[in-house]
Amino acid sequence: MPIADITSRDYMPREALRGLQLERLQTTVQRVYEHVPFYRRALDERQITAAQVQHLEDLCQIPFTTREDLIEQYPRGFFAVPREQILRIHASSGTKGKSKIVGYTRQDIQVWAEVCARALYCMGVRPGDTLLNAYGYGLFTGGLGLHYGAEYMDVTVIPTSVGNTQRQMTFLRDLQATALACTPSYALVIGEMAERMHLAPTDLSLQYAICGAEPWTNSLRQQIEQRLGLHAFDLYGLSEIIGPGVAVECPEGRAEALQTGNDSTRSLHIFEDHFLPEIVSPQGEPLPAGTEGELVLTTLTKEGMPLLRYRTGDLCTLETAPCSCGRTLIRMSQVKGRIDDMLIIRGINIYPSEIERILLAIPTLAPYYQIIIERQQVLDDATVEVEVTAPIQQQIGDLTSQDEQWTVHEQIQVLQNRTSQALQEATGLRFAVRVHSKEMLPRHEGKAIRVIDKR
Ligand code: DLL
Repeated sequence: MPIADITSRDYMPREALRGLQLERLQTTVQRVYEHVPFYRRALDERQITAAQVQHLEDLCQIPFTTREDLIEQYPRGFFAVPREQILRIHASSGTKGKSKIVGYTRQDIQVWAEVCARALYCMGVRPGDTLLNAYGYGLFTGGLGLHYGAEYMDVTVIPTSVGNTQRQMTFLRDLQATALACTPSYALVIGEMAERMHLAPTDLSLQYAICGAEPWTNSLRQQIEQRLGLHAFDLYGLSEIIGPGVAVECPEGRAEALQTGNDSTRSLHIFEDHFLPEIVSPQGEPLPAGTEGELVLTTLTKEGMPLLRYRTGDLCTLETAPCSCGRTLIRMSQVKGRIDDMLIIRGINIYPSEIERILLAIPTLAPYYQIIIERQQVLDDATVEVEVTAPIQQQIGDLTSQDEQWTVHEQIQVLQNRTSQALQEATGLRFAVRVHSKEMLPRHEGKAIRVIDKR
């Protein structure tokens, strides 16, 4: 189906959309009851049948599915079709050394390509554009998911996958790529390489960055946009549900989030004709729109591995108010982090994304940081390591006299104190801060590792 026809589903009247969702939910409940022993048991225990799902609100009677369930049913316990109908396997790392395996039928791969194409189209990417895809190809869903999405809508793909940043830069320039897909942390590394290669945004043809797979703040977005001269959009997804392509930011939403400067105003449209969202409390109680909680997703069209009420572990809110772009799809806020990413330090709860926001509000600090937590006897100590920006590193590197170097040393001390104060004011917690005047912290090609918890 041509891309323009598929995107028309983004604008379906809500009533019609809800009707479609109900129909698809009933089919899904019936399918998993017939083919997935885990669900048959769970539904029988609660005496729920597909026929009882008469309204979308009846969803709340259905039990949740958790990550632990997926790991317990490893490898194929959730597959709802005979083995030979699964054409593709992906996996994401789980706890206890077991991966979460996900399987796709031919139709699932088609739906996945469609939602990724809709996501690209929503950002502004059009047939004839060229996308350099620097998400990892392989078991990770980022690479192949966007690859098929781009090809679906006649976008040329350069499948570089991660790594060899200099070559990525050379291809971006020489093949005049208009779109770049990668994690936000890798987009920064690519931007850094552009500076090293003395490439200005005007030497490139980039217009869009498709960033996701990890939480990222608006400050980080501004840095990516300035370095590469493009508009960066948030794309959300998870392997268990399909991969990238569950939800995406529209240009109107991006502009609004940047205008308010407030991270909590970022919003992404969920492709609700395929994924039914809910927000629940830690106890699993459904929460009203606008209240922060855990995102729970039900797949509505998956054949290979349909999931009912999957607890994503991701914290966000749902927004039902209409968007100025005209799409009728519900919006989720930016993911603040995974519930299990929350750090509890000396009894205070903090998400790494909050620390990122505070650090990047200090203009002399670069967006490379790490949080190290150690237990000293009974109390936890938290250290934040961060670097000064590249131009400042350059200036410091050029200094020759000892006096000048001593002055820099003092200035770094002042910056450390200021950063520590800003962190304490915002979080109530005292952090030791180490500001590096040289490139010392790791650069990430995939999802960044921000926290080293040694407790
Ligand atoms: O990260 C799929 C993906 C690939 C999404 C490329 C976007 C772009 P997993 O490896 O299974 O799949 O990791 C899923 O990553 O539950 C979130 O915690 C986090 N995550 C994904 N997208 C975002 C985002 C891919 N836009 C897990 N913002 C999810 C914040 C995100 N966190």
